[in-house]
Amino acid sequence: MKQLDPKMLRNAFGSYMTGVTVITAMSNDGTPVGFTANSFTSVSLNPPLLLVCPAKSLSSFDVFANCDSFVVNILSEDQQAISNIFAGSKADRFSQIEWHKDEQGNPVIDGALTHFSCKTDRNLDAGDHHLLVGEVLDFSSREGHGLGYASGGYFSLALEREAAEISTQEKHVSVGVIIEHNGKVLLSQKDGKVSLPSTTTDDNTNAVSTIQQFLADNGIDAQLGAVFSIYENSKTNTNYIFYRAIAQSSNTKGLGEYIAIDDIAEQDFATSAMNSMMTRYATESKNGLYGVYVGQEEQGRVH
Ligand SMILES: Cc1cc2nc3c(=O)[nH]c(=O)nc-3n(C[C@H](O)[C@H](O)[C@H](O)COP(=O)(O)O)c2cc1C
Repeated sequence: MKQLDPKMLRNAFGSYMTGVTVITAMSNDGTPVGFTANSFTSVSLNPPLLLVCPAKSLSSFDVFANCDSFVVNILSEDQQAISNIFAGSKADRFSQIEWHKDEQGNPVIDGALTHFSCKTDRNLDAGDHHLLVGEVLDFSSREGHGLGYASGGYFSLALEREAAEISTQEKHVSVGVIIEHNGKVLLSQKDGKVSLPSTTTDDNTNAVSTIQQFLADNGIDAQLGAVFSIYENSKTNTNYIFYRAIAQSSNTKGLGEYIAIDDIAEQDFATSAMNSMMTRYATESKNGLYGVYVGQEEQGRVH
């Protein structure tokens, strides 16, 4: 059999876009346990079955391998922090969030988009994971958008759609990109000021295609990530959309030079909006928790 590269296989699996769930249950001593999972799949309507795959390496694996019931919490787009708590935090995860118990006594996360209270239907061994099949006993679901996950990063479909709509509906749209490589970002110099690589959209071309074409035209081999900032300058009637990207090499192809993220504070950016955006980038890149700014040039909200 062909030898598969585990890292490349993991990346290939990760190219499948998913939502994000937190799977919860109670251990025998009454301690709540939970982990972040994107292996959730709906299986059957009649009977109502779903599936999730807990890894054997989970600290809570014994609980999930033997549980009679559990809960699937589908996270909403503003619950990225909860996903990170249940994917990494070593401290008491449940003391950091709001939650309540369902009829079976399992934790339901407050503010989740949807929850399914399940009775364990089957628990099957599958390589380094289990297939945990649950029969849905009860559920709740509210209007809203789920948190998205693809290629190792979170995204919000609503905000990506907003960026796409602005770029096809508005006349003056500037699309820029924060290209990161090894703790540095690619900045260009113009008239003594520092700026980010950017271009403008042609009528009706969406922002993602525009920026991908821009990277290709400039020979930059970078993986485009999620949208980082969407703002409008009402005086010039220009909309700005910035994406994040990770470059595979340090070759700048004449677009500028790579500056250490730690030195962002010392840069003289072309606009104050770009300055505050990059200051936020420097802070957020420290823990990899990126928000999305939406608003006017001077006033808006980080989602
Ligand atoms: C988006 C995302 C999806 C994940 N999906 C799964 C999954 O489906 N199954 C799993 O066992 N671990 C999955 N993990 C990893 C676990 O969440 C992580 O290893 C776990 O929370 C560690 O818990 P522990 O410290 O209690 O062992 C995922 C992590 C992330 C960030």
